[in-house]
Amino acid sequence: MPPVNPNPIHDTTIPNPPFGEPGHRPIIQRGAGRVNVNERKIINGGTADVVQLWPIKHKFAWDAYNVANANHWLPTEISMQSDIEQWRSQTVLSDDERHAFKTVLGFFTTADSIAANNLVLAFYKHITSPEARLYLLRQAYEEAVHTHAYQYMVESLGLEGTEIYNMYREVDAIYNKEEFILTFNTGIFDDHFKTGTFESDQKFLENMCVFSLILEGIFFYSSFAVIFGFQRQGKLVGSAEQIQYIMRDESNHMNFGIDMINTIKEEQPELWTPEFVTRITNLIKKAVKLEYEFAVNVFPTGIFGLNAEGFKQYIEHIADRRLARVGIDQVYGSPNPFPWMSEAVDLNKEKNFFETRVTEYKTGGTLSW
Ligand SMILES: [Fe+2]
Ligand SMILES: [Fe+2]
Repeated sequence: MPPVNPNPIHDTTIPNPPFGEPGHRPIIQRGAGRVNVNERKIINGGTADVVQLWPIKHKFAWDAYNVANANHWLPTEISMQSDIEQWRSQTVLSDDERHAFKTVLGFFTTADSIAANNLVLAFYKHITSPEARLYLLRQAYEEAVHTHAYQYMVESLGLEGTEIYNMYREVDAIYNKEEFILTFNTGIFDDHFKTGTFESDQKFLENMCVFSLILEGIFFYSSFAVIFGFQRQGKLVGSAEQIQYIMRDESNHMNFGIDMINTIKEEQPELWTPEFVTRITNLIKKAVKLEYEFAVNVFPTGIFGLNAEGFKQYIEHIADRRLARVGIDQVYGSPNPFPWMSEAVDLNKEKNFFETRVTEYKTGGTLSW
């Protein structure tokens, strides 16, 4: 019987001669018996091969995959005509409103590429649950659709693309948020990074917390709220519709990420130490600070009742909610200053459509509010 590779999906650092040549190290565990699904884990479950989808162990991932397929949409299906007319008009949008819209779009244009790169280049190869991998493939595609949506908005409105797309290099408040996020995938991008030690598993879990709770759960949500502020004034409603579809997807990404974090907590409880909880809490506090600085940049003076101080409370409110979802004590106790954000995300009878688990979709793609 050929030797069994204890960690078949990770071990790329040891040279492996081609199949059929002496010393070839099997990747599929031939002769090692049938896969025991009970050995499947989110990470470090390499003994249960990643190529056997069935039976499903992590049902939340399979559910997320099916929900995502039912939510298919494309940016080009949404009419941008009234946005184009309003953007060209000299009377509909103030300079402050144009500035806020462009700054948020400047953040979005690069943020989804950062999310996609993390999924594909840092995250995917360390995930040992086939059903979680299935959803990640879908999620990566959705990040591409979002990146397309922002391009479509820039092109439709005739914005200066080089200005919007370079904001992450030129606007400190955007640079600081994105640079902060990127520091958490540097080690994991490394070819030699492996899960399987206490330190590396905590580092991986930290990456999950940063991308799901902070990037998708705080940085995105706060910018979604800015765009819905426009929508409430009857302004840029095509762009807002694009963002509604994106928010539906991002809400699922965040819920999936939270399910992954909570499942790892169950599978490897030793990782979730008091020190780790403090570390995550401090990262959330840092993110809230960065997001407030971003809000100051978005609203130098305030537009239609929205200003940086009001946003601070909203950012704190959603930060507390994200902490609670992974069982960490809340920090701020700030009430939601934008109850309309909850209304914007409630769909028909499905209460808290975006913020809670979604289980019932009747048809693919359509969005009813
Ligand atoms: Fe996205
Ligand atoms: Fe996402």
